[in-house]
Amino acid sequence: MCGHVHPAVAVTVGPGGSTEKKSTSSVVNVVQDSTRQQDLVSSTTSEAEPRSESSAVFERDRDRPSFGGRLLTDEANVFSQNAWDHVEMTEEDRQRALAKIAEHAQNAVDPAVRDDVVANAPQYWDQFYTTNQEKFFKERQWLPIEFPELFAPPQGRTAANIADDLTDLPFTIMEVGCGAGGATVFPLLKEWRKLADAETPPGEPAADPNLLIHACDFSSVAVQHLKTLDEFDPKHINAFVYDLASPDIPESVAAESVDIVVLIFIFSALPPPKWKQAMENVYKILKPGGLVLLRDYARLDLAQVRMKKGRLLEENLYMRGDKTMVYFFTTDEIRELAEQQGFEITQLGLDQRLLVNRGKQLRMNRNWLQCKLRKPHVVGTVSRSE
Ligand SMILES: C[S@@+](CC[C@H](N)C(=O)[O-])C[C@H]1O[C@@H](n2cnc3c(N)ncnc32)[C@H](O)[C@@H]1O
Repeated sequence: MCGHVHPAVAVTVGPGGSTEKKSTSSVVNVVQDSTRQQDLVSSTTSEAEPRSESSAVFERDRDRPSFGGRLLTDEANVFSQNAWDHVEMTEEDRQRALAKIAEHAQNAVDPAVRDDVVANAPQYWDQFYTTNQEKFFKERQWLPIEFPELFAPPQGRTAANIADDLTDLPFTIMEVGCGAGGATVFPLLKEWRKLADAETPPGEPAADPNLLIHACDFSSVAVQHLKTLDEFDPKHINAFVYDLASPDIPESVAAESVDIVVLIFIFSALPPPKWKQAMENVYKILKPGGLVLLRDYARLDLAQVRMKKGRLLEENLYMRGDKTMVYFFTTDEIRELAEQQGFEITQLGLDQRLLVNRGKQLRMNRNWLQCKLRKPHVVGTVSRSE
């Protein structure tokens, strides 16, 4: 359909495969360096690609970054296999991509169409989910590698719900733009069930996970699908319709009540004027010390370069064939947004991969952005707007 490409990072393990987890990420952290986006790299694979054994992200400030499995050490070998991890765009590839993107501006969308696409965004996503139901967005198998924070209760807390310990409130995760739940929500609950099971004394029935997931999306069709699936468990999943760019936080989520907010390929669906309000809502929802885990499209990604004529809404913002929107970010844009809101940036980096068409000798760059933000422990409270 609409050119969505999923970052199934270079791992074979899913959320259930905890024993095989590698602790390295495929993101090059640019927290310390805001200036050179193009040379700070990490990578993921698309759904269609074969998966290698390790993540393609690395942290820049580690002594020796751990790369994904397929390293291009000799440019002469570039067409010897289909994909390479951690490949920075060459200046030639970059110039080629920029030239393609410059062509988009010559065929920008008519302003009336643009206004319709922006105003009716939830309806276009509804149409998407009516057509694709829960089948399009598959389990994000890279989650345990890139976002291990989702699979570990904080120190001193348990994954199992121990009934006589009333102080142990559920670990609370909120996914915004959760779609029909198959990508993150259900795999997460499944993994937490395993964690709780592992904590259960032998011979006793498996303990319930001490987890609450707020799952929301502005597509009512997506949320409806999520609620009808077998994996949906209302005891652990609070599913509801919510637009992240709303003037306030959702009714069913208290201010400062969430440990982690997950934003996977949702910020790119927002037009730039909505980013600030969206970030503010995320900030309000999070507990002090809470985390944002964000992954999204980065500038000059193949999906941007390959956009067809007549899809450009405004600079770096496009409509797909089904009229859903997609923006391609730089790390600086995310940094600015996060800092304006008062977040501490603990990771901000690119995840880059080179795909090649060996037959046609073509080079294609996949660029994703990954970011972890922490809400500082500050004096004073944040409350729902009146
Ligand atoms: C590209 S899909 C990603 C789905 C899912 N997060 C995943 O990883 O597969 C983007 C999702 O964000 C939702 N979305 C877009 N704009 C939104 C908004 N302003 N508020 C809430 N959800 C939104 C869409 O309906 C869609 O389900």
